[in-house]
Amino acid sequence: MVARSTCAFTVGGDSGHIAPRSARKGREKVVGDPSDKPCKLVVCRGCCCGTKKKVPGVDHKAQLKRLSGIEDHEGRSVPVRVSKCLGICFKANVVVVQPSSKGRADGGRPVWLGDFTEDRLVDELDDWIFRGGPGAAPVPEPLQPHLTSKDAKKPKKKKLKKQLKRKRKQAEKDKKEKKAAASKGGKGDKGKAGEKGASPEKAKGGKARKAEGKKKKKK
Ligand code: FES
Repeated sequence: MVARSTCAFTVGGDSGHIAPRSARKGREKVVGDPSDKPCKLVVCRGCCCGTKKKVPGVDHKAQLKRLSGIEDHEGRSVPVRVSKCLGICFKANVVVVQPSSKGRADGGRPVWLGDFTEDRLVDELDDWIFRGGPGAAPVPEPLQPHLTSKDAKKPKKKKLKKQLKRKRKQAEKDKKEKKAAASKGGKGDKGKAGEKGASPEKAKGGKARKAEGKKKKKK
């Protein structure tokens, strides 16, 4: 069933549903305003999102099934629309959470989530929608690093290179500092000779003096 221009088909109804997290947890559901429409999800399944080639190591079918099984605090099934491509493929998988009508009236706006790959993110999303979703409850902390938008810009290679360079430099600096700290804490005369202001000559002189002292003691 085609709902909108970007929509390939709608997932929902009774088919393929697994027990929603909200039901599994045995939470109490409330009876709300019948005119209030529930949150909706737009799940991208295009050239990158949902493909093993671009996003390996994820059971995309299972993820879609789980997303399709989400219910809100009133026990309403959250409709899921599958989109072909939402235009920010470098953020695959992309999921958009649309507010309920009450959430929208309270200022909630669609929330775009990128790199949506892990199971725990589905749990967090489920919990969030159960609490009302956009406009009703703040974005859960674990979802915050995944916030994105339809205007997100793909990071330039140059920028990435610079970032890598900076990271490498920092790593080298840390290594040097660690080495310096280790040598300071070293035992024996070597460490003492390396102390601030102790020139190699002075250190040598010190050694010679110590040797002489030992000889005198023996005598
Ligand atoms: S395929 Fe998902 S944003 Fe392009």
